[in-house]
Amino acid sequence: MCGIVGYIGDKPSLPILINGLKKLEYRGYDSAGCAIVSGNERMEVYKAKGKVSNLEEKTQNDDACGTLGIAHTRWATHGIPSEINAHPHVSQSGNIAIVHNGIIENYAVLKEQLEKKGYTFKSETDTEVLAQLIEYAATEGNGDLVSGVRRALKLCIGAYAIAVVDRRNPDLLIAARKASPLAIGIGENNEEFFLASDASPIAEYTRKIVYLNDEELALIERGKELRIENLHTGSVDYEIKEVDLDLSMLDKGGFPHFMLKEIFDQPTVLKDCMRGRILEKDGKYRVVLSAVEQHKDILVNAKRFTIVSCGTSWHAGLIGKQLIEHFCKIHTEVAYASEYRYNDTVIEPGDVVMAISQSGETADTLAAIEMAKEKGATIFGIVNSVGSSIARQTDTGTYIHIGPEIGVASTKAFTGQVTVLTMLALALGKARGTVDEQEYNEVLRELTLIPEKIQTILQQNDKIKDIARIFTYAHNCLYLGRGWNYPVALEGALKMKEISYIHAEGYPAAEMKHGPIALIDDEMPVVFIATHHQLYQKIISNMQEVLSRRGRIFAIVTEGDEQVRKMCAEVMEVPATLACLAPLLSVIPLQLLSYHVAVAKQLNVDQPRNLAKSVTVE
Ligand code: M6R
Repeated sequence: MCGIVGYIGDKPSLPILINGLKKLEYRGYDSAGCAIVSGNERMEVYKAKGKVSNLEEKTQNDDACGTLGIAHTRWATHGIPSEINAHPHVSQSGNIAIVHNGIIENYAVLKEQLEKKGYTFKSETDTEVLAQLIEYAATEGNGDLVSGVRRALKLCIGAYAIAVVDRRNPDLLIAARKASPLAIGIGENNEEFFLASDASPIAEYTRKIVYLNDEELALIERGKELRIENLHTGSVDYEIKEVDLDLSMLDKGGFPHFMLKEIFDQPTVLKDCMRGRILEKDGKYRVVLSAVEQHKDILVNAKRFTIVSCGTSWHAGLIGKQLIEHFCKIHTEVAYASEYRYNDTVIEPGDVVMAISQSGETADTLAAIEMAKEKGATIFGIVNSVGSSIARQTDTGTYIHIGPEIGVASTKAFTGQVTVLTMLALALGKARGTVDEQEYNEVLRELTLIPEKIQTILQQNDKIKDIARIFTYAHNCLYLGRGWNYPVALEGALKMKEISYIHAEGYPAAEMKHGPIALIDDEMPVVFIATHHQLYQKIISNMQEVLSRRGRIFAIVTEGDEQVRKMCAEVMEVPATLACLAPLLSVIPLQLLSYHVAVAKQLNVDQPRNLAKSVTVE
């Protein structure tokens, strides 16, 4: 949560900072701010409540031309969204400004100590405490800002990615991180440097990126080579990576919202995800994943898989469990990362813990794998963001390669994750000899056809838009599915609540009669995922139970299914496919449904209230 941008170079920093914040707005958007340092000890600080566009408007007529600056877009943790709580926070003397992503857990104790030394505070934030602490530590250390930052950070418990500037020194930008991401872009001949929470605001200026590691501090000085030091051990070597980011993925490409673009991106990005991994010759298919090739021994002999993830990625994990157990015959558990990290988990030899994460920065998932790694598990990552914290913590893994996902509601990441899980389960099943040859070939062949099948579902967009109108009046709805489609019911319900603010519950269809059936009346839409697979007849019985209580049914059905159609107010059709691949198709109409309900309710689809794309706090 929260996005940080920084710039030092030969150009005015303000437009670069605003441009960068817009790319990071997915990380938080309840206030934004920046500090621009120019010569003559001048520092302008601007803040605005709400979106980055408000900050942009506010700064439009100002002539801040400083070539050093830091900026921030906030997702509130300590203190309500307001201008006072917005970053940058400035120290008591007005000299030091700081932007911060993370949480200083011991801020209350530090604040009390600083108050005793005469410091006063304007905001409710932990970040202002850090700004004052840096000033105090610098003053104690004869005014040296770098040693002040170093000493202050050693006193902090918690997570931080920070950028610090001093109005008296227009040639120095300091950055540091612990458990919150930070990337530094290096311009030609060290003439300019860029700082950001991820590479997306940097990539249009330079492809040369250095990712800071935990407890590292970067000294970025005008015209000099970048220096990085470990907080405790001093100077460290660093690796400059070349990022390969498709910049066209970072705009809406003519769609009104990122979410809709990302839904429509799915046929293309799923092909990207499979490219070079699924190979065909004379009608014979095989899947090759480098992670499986390189770590065959460990993976083939795995005794147990535990998938840790959050939200949509957790739903993909539930499908992953079914895939791994079906094709590899390995016992698999799925845990919420936020619970798993605090469990007394017993890790035994042969345990593989698999982290699934789009952003690769989810704090709970990161902590869960760190804990499992310490206890001796092998860590496998299924991640989208290349070079992210989770990707770097894993022993091995497979990127999903679906391009940046900007809409807060995850769509193409889900289908990308399920695609990778399918390829992984098949590759591993093949290596273990637990998958039937014919089934292996058939599933891989069918998987390559999924992008075209998604394309045909997308053609129903207008129809789903009409259906969505009915849902705008609902206060509650129920999503029911079974077997492979049960996680899709959970995912459909999550999509609906997070962007439409309609209460939606996902349930295994047969579980409905153990409680939720009491909710059913003619005002509550019930969405069934009733594709033509195992348990189809049983789903029909569950539908009868809903109809008998005057429930209104909307169903995802296999093309041409007349039996279910007769029982429904409306149906959304998906092409026929194999049972294990059904989620890749049945989720698509549910993504569109939630999107159109949110649009019809005139809600902010890409930036729903209270949420952020990347949850980098506990
Ligand atoms: O980046 P991650 O996949 O680790 O994120 C996990 C969840 O925060 C995320 O899937 C969230 O639930 C989405 N907003 C759902 O659409």
